[in-house]
Amino acid sequence: DIPAFTLNDGTKMPAVGMGCWMGGFGGGARVSAMVKKALEVGYRHFDTASGYGNEEQVGAALRESGIPREQLYVVTKLGGSGHHRVEEAFEESLAKLGIEYVDLYLMHWPQGDCDGRTLQPEDAPTFIDTWKDMEKLLGTGKVKSIGVSNFSIKTLTELLPHCKIVPAVNQVEAHPFLPQVELKNFCEDKGILITAYSPLGRPPSGQPPTVPTEGVPSLLSNSTVVGITEKYKVTPAQVLLSWGVQRGTPVIPKSENEERMRANITLLHLDETDMKVLDTEHTKPGLHRSLMSYHSTIGGQGSVFGWTYEQM
Ligand code: A2P
Repeated sequence: DIPAFTLNDGTKMPAVGMGCWMGGFGGGARVSAMVKKALEVGYRHFDTASGYGNEEQVGAALRESGIPREQLYVVTKLGGSGHHRVEEAFEESLAKLGIEYVDLYLMHWPQGDCDGRTLQPEDAPTFIDTWKDMEKLLGTGKVKSIGVSNFSIKTLTELLPHCKIVPAVNQVEAHPFLPQVELKNFCEDKGILITAYSPLGRPPSGQPPTVPTEGVPSLLSNSTVVGITEKYKVTPAQVLLSWGVQRGTPVIPKSENEERMRANITLLHLDETDMKVLDTEHTKPGLHRSLMSYHSTIGGQGSVFGWTYEQM
């Protein structure tokens, strides 16, 4: 059985979920096939977003499985264009999914869109008002938990004084090259659970993480990670995902391949030495800086909108 994490509102989230982001085109029939297969393999936690353009396919596959709703954990997210019309955007997501409630509704990014333009750091933030509207959704019974995604210490520090409900989750990119140590400590202190997206290391866009391009090292072929696989007779992905869960973060790797799906829910217990080695991998000279600049320029947290990591 996949272990679960308890959120600050008492609900439980399976520790491994299926990430349903498929790139800009949404995935179409591929998403349907992936969710169907994942359910057969034993996944019960599915992570999508209005911005992924595939809530319909994800929802249909979940419903067609016949698995009782209470056994599933469904996450979707409010897009930037929904910041000023939360209830309507939420109802659209729910209708597309075709389910009675979502388990967790996340604000996808702190930045909202205004008149077709993504708000910039110098603009007044909308996320406080947006969060207040998300809090109201809880009363409808159509959302079990609410949280945020891609929030930094900076944006959380702005948000938290205004919260009646503390976000249950902050979903961010996290893996040994980008362990988000300060953010994780900050969130733990406030009772916010970090969910790790791209837990196998974020590849250059469109590439699987096995393909190192543009000088970005691959975590799956990282010598520290590979060294640990030999000891436990597992794959690099299993080491990375086990590290993530063992340090206290649910992980949501995407995979369309049955064998990799199975591997990704088969976790192991890493000993303290291996955990420490993975914890410090990002401090190796060169790596941290090159990845940070990579992440802050072409695809990392916040960077899609041209914000630097620090501004987030
Ligand atoms: P595939 O679907 O072919 O398995 P994300 O960062 O969005 O979670 O994407 C994960 C990427 O890693 C996907 O490209 C996926 O490709 C690949 N992947 C998933 N699981 C594994 C695994 N166990 N070993 C190697 N690659 C994996």
